[in-house]
Amino acid sequence: MSTGTLSPMKFAHWIPNVSGGLVVSKVPQRTDWGLNYNINLVKIAEEVGFDYGLTQIRFMGSYGAEYQHDSLMFTAALLSCTDRLNIITATLPGMFHPAVMAKHGATADQIFNGRWSIHIASGWFREEYDALGVPWFEHDERYVRSQEFVEILRGSWTEDNFHFDGKYWNIQGYTLKPKPLAIPGRPTPEIFQGGNSLAAQRMAAAVSDWYLMNGNSTKGFKKQIDNIKKLAFVRGRTLKFGVNAFVIARETETEARDELERIVGSADGVAIGGFKEAVKEAGQSTKEHEGMWTESTDRDLVQYNDGFKTDLIGTPEQIAQRIHNFRKIGVDLILCGFLHFHEETRFFGERVIPLVRELERSDPVTRSTFG
Ligand SMILES: Cc1cc2nc3c(=O)[nH]c(=O)nc-3n(C[C@H](O)[C@H](O)[C@H](O)COP(=O)(O)O)c2cc1C
Repeated sequence: MSTGTLSPMKFAHWIPNVSGGLVVSKVPQRTDWGLNYNINLVKIAEEVGFDYGLTQIRFMGSYGAEYQHDSLMFTAALLSCTDRLNIITATLPGMFHPAVMAKHGATADQIFNGRWSIHIASGWFREEYDALGVPWFEHDERYVRSQEFVEILRGSWTEDNFHFDGKYWNIQGYTLKPKPLAIPGRPTPEIFQGGNSLAAQRMAAAVSDWYLMNGNSTKGFKKQIDNIKKLAFVRGRTLKFGVNAFVIARETETEARDELERIVGSADGVAIGGFKEAVKEAGQSTKEHEGMWTESTDRDLVQYNDGFKTDLIGTPEQIAQRIHNFRKIGVDLILCGFLHFHEETRFFGERVIPLVRELERSDPVTRSTFG
């Protein structure tokens, strides 16, 4: 590992634009999926040091989540109430035309001063495709389509008279004006990608700026990071890595662990059963049997992005140390989910992030980037 070259860890938080919060549990939650709650959330998040907020894209209920606000509209509403936070719009390539999305993104980027990013979710929830009459492809083919989607986004954002002759879309001399803002070090709005199968890893290495992982162990994260770095290196590319975590930070470890048991003890078994069935379309359907949810237990699925596995559960000191250890295996961003978003986003920003910064300042592996 090279020393003295790691920049400070970035922090993102989920935007709960779907109902039911981040856990499939009947435990009481103060989190709300409405606009006013989320406006207050993003204001807290940017005040306490978060860099990004990530929306979800969902057309129908799954894992509970009976109501869902549209990710793009919601992003615009939240961007208009913030000054610094970058908000990531989640999208599903099967549902949108990439050049139209490039146009939406360019406008958002222009009017909100370069604070717009996109997250490409290749899809696992077949029912919503069937309901909308959108063809459902087998697993790896969904990544072929997603890769074309990203190539068209980038081409539209960077070229005039752009042509693309793909399997799914043909672009015949498109000139997008205005293009997104030209920001030094950021050639286009950042492109995040979710999905952890080998097809997802190959796509990330080829075209994405960020690869987001479901919750996992340190070993599980490292395996993916190392593989993708190798694949990207061959293509002369580098990319960044984010990991999902359901954070339970409390004054004592016992309080934090007790909270986890309360959440799991009130799990909504029926919703988890349906979700478990639906996610068989993800990594489980590949020939390698690798990807999101392939090894998840029912307990893991109570946080639908495996966020308990990352184990950011304990005191601020314990959590900060673990985050710093992730930085040293190549994790660039922690994506945080919480039970009670307002209170816990503030607690995390005020109590955990400063401890991470202290560790970064005192560790030779990260110190030099603080000047
Ligand atoms: C952090 C993160 C956020 C995701 N957000 C969404 C989402 O909002 N909507 C969605 O349909 N899928 C979402 N996904 C799912 C993935 O994009 C992907 O379609 C699915 O998990 C299959 O992945 P696989 O390649 O491991 O099979 C997300 C994945 C991750 C890691």
